[in-house]
Amino acid sequence: MIPRETINQIIETARIEDVVSEFVTLRKRGSNLIGVCPFHKEKTPSFNVNPARNIFKCFGCGKAGDSVRFIMEHEHYSYPEALRYLAKKYGIKIEEREQTPEELAAQNERERMFNINSFAQQYFSDTMMTSDEGQSVGLAYFHERGFRDAIINRFQLGYCPNSGSAFTDYATQHGYDKDLLIKVGLTGNYENRFYDRYQGRVIFPIHNLTGKVIGFGGRILTKEKTKAKYVNSPESEIYNKSQTLYGIFFARNEISKLDNCILVEGYADVLSMHQAGIENVVASSGTSLTTEQIRMISRYTKNITMLYDGDAAGIHAALRGTNMILEEGMNVRIVVLPPEDDPDSFVQNNPIEVVTKYLEDNARDFIGFKTNLLLKDAQNDPIKRASVIKDIVETIAVIPDPIYRATYIKECSRTLEMAEQTLTNEVNKILRAKYRKQLGLDPKLDSQLTYQEYQTYQPQQQQVEPKDTTPVGFFQEQELVKLLLSHGSETIEIEEKDEDGKVINTYITTIASAIVDDLKNDGLLFSDPTHKKIFDAFDNGLDTGNLPTAQDFTSSEDQDVAVLAADLLSTQYKLDDWQRHRIVVRTEDDVLKKTVLTSILRFKDMVIEDRRTAVVKELQSCTDSDEQLILLQKKKKLDAIRLKINHDLGIVITK
Ligand code: CTP
Ligand code: MN
Repeated sequence: MIPRETINQIIETARIEDVVSEFVTLRKRGSNLIGVCPFHKEKTPSFNVNPARNIFKCFGCGKAGDSVRFIMEHEHYSYPEALRYLAKKYGIKIEEREQTPEELAAQNERERMFNINSFAQQYFSDTMMTSDEGQSVGLAYFHERGFRDAIINRFQLGYCPNSGSAFTDYATQHGYDKDLLIKVGLTGNYENRFYDRYQGRVIFPIHNLTGKVIGFGGRILTKEKTKAKYVNSPESEIYNKSQTLYGIFFARNEISKLDNCILVEGYADVLSMHQAGIENVVASSGTSLTTEQIRMISRYTKNITMLYDGDAAGIHAALRGTNMILEEGMNVRIVVLPPEDDPDSFVQNNPIEVVTKYLEDNARDFIGFKTNLLLKDAQNDPIKRASVIKDIVETIAVIPDPIYRATYIKECSRTLEMAEQTLTNEVNKILRAKYRKQLGLDPKLDSQLTYQEYQTYQPQQQQVEPKDTTPVGFFQEQELVKLLLSHGSETIEIEEKDEDGKVINTYITTIASAIVDDLKNDGLLFSDPTHKKIFDAFDNGLDTGNLPTAQDFTSSEDQDVAVLAADLLSTQYKLDDWQRHRIVVRTEDDVLKKTVLTSILRFKDMVIEDRRTAVVKELQSCTDSDEQLILLQKKKKLDAIRLKINHDLGIVITK
């Protein structure tokens, strides 16, 4: 932990213009400085530095913040990493807890493992470039595959001699520890005879985010079926396959700049793409993506384009594991290559213009891709069709962003030729079940009972009580907070209806007012304290006519607020991102409007249900008949409200 006083000292000392000018050429304009934004591609400068307020803002891409945020964004550092960077730059000492001897030893060992890998990488590269065997076998292989020296050097490719223990001997002669050589997987031990695990293979070093070599992949050069095609580093303190993406160090800046990450399968695919000048490319190294890998990408962009081989297996693979990516709030597109190609062959055999045009023309948003593919399979079989719909609905339900969900529902209702409301109901059912489960309530409750059964459902059969301290309605609250933060000052049209649902008045208002005023009218408040702070800020803003901006929250002094805002806003796409990426889904006003109204209703529904549960509980223990009567009336009233809410939500459950 860095003490608060130190943080303040760092922020005060690190003048924004000074910090930024290390990376961006600034020139004066009025009292501000301007330059070309380092965070997005632009020709005319829209990146603004305001020395008086000690902040930056880009009017092109919207990135903004103080000097700490600038370093976080630019260097992709975490908050403490950025603070440390600035402290070092300005010679500010950070008092931190001393490390224990165990921690020191562990840190030393990691350091030594990095050193060994770096030494090995150098050896493999030198061997390939300068020795006879290296040139005639290793380098010749790479050249044969179309890799030129520039890319070979950039990715530090190499070759390990085909002679038992040449590398291991060389390393031990240079004082490297055998146990550690074995630990990082460079050396093998067979009955006390030590050998090079990568002998006779070409070497692909694997780099972490900061460019350190954490592991190796060694490819066999022959077609021998008896030997493994790849030898890879074992898991160790410094190498964890599921947390690694091949090429991320070389791709990260371009991923960030283009706001898109292209995902391929193998080492060769990454190299060929980079060589062709498409540098926002990484590989999962033959396995399906893990959550950690997705989170690594999401530090740079929310957009993933997955490239798949055009064969049946490739198309099939495209459908697997993708829900997990959507669940992380990523926007996934799929490109299927021509049947005979993988990314490597495709870029090597086509001019770059053809490749980029192909990627542009063939990128499909994942849900549309999946829907079409499954529908084609189902043809006119009604049972298969029903299961396709179920599958798609489940996929849409994992998307965390309510606006995206609504947009996809709209789109899919067209492709599936189904009423939008029906799809919305199905998605809502899944979400409600999910929320209930998260709260420790019986998730089957509303999806399996008829509405009537639901009404008469007796809580004593319900043995599940809310388990943890998560307040009722937490997730619904969060959805509303997210809407406030990202769309609070946008306007929507609200329809006022009478008892019979007839529209008696329509008016335009901000989303902030639609949410805040509506909840206040009903005397409803958020129960999570951080949610409440954000709610109150909007409430205040409505009173003073000056709504807070997202930035007010992300740079809030209140860390809880700042963290939550950054969190919610970073899993939240701006609507225009969609247009920018040419996603087929159209976002229209009514999508936003519907989302706002549904989110409000869902929140109310949860609160009312909670109150009803409390009343029912009281009823059970109540012996006084007058009191019972009052409670019954209360319950009836709540039931009526729920009925209305559910009706408005379209959730009335029919058999
Ligand atoms: N892979 C692996 N171990 C294997 C096979 C594959 O680690 N035994 C990983 C590698 O990262 C490889 C990726 O899975 O790059 C894709 O496998 P494959 O398509 O077989 O490899 P390519 O690198 O495409 O090999 P090449 O084009 O040279 O045949
Ligand atoms: Mn290949």
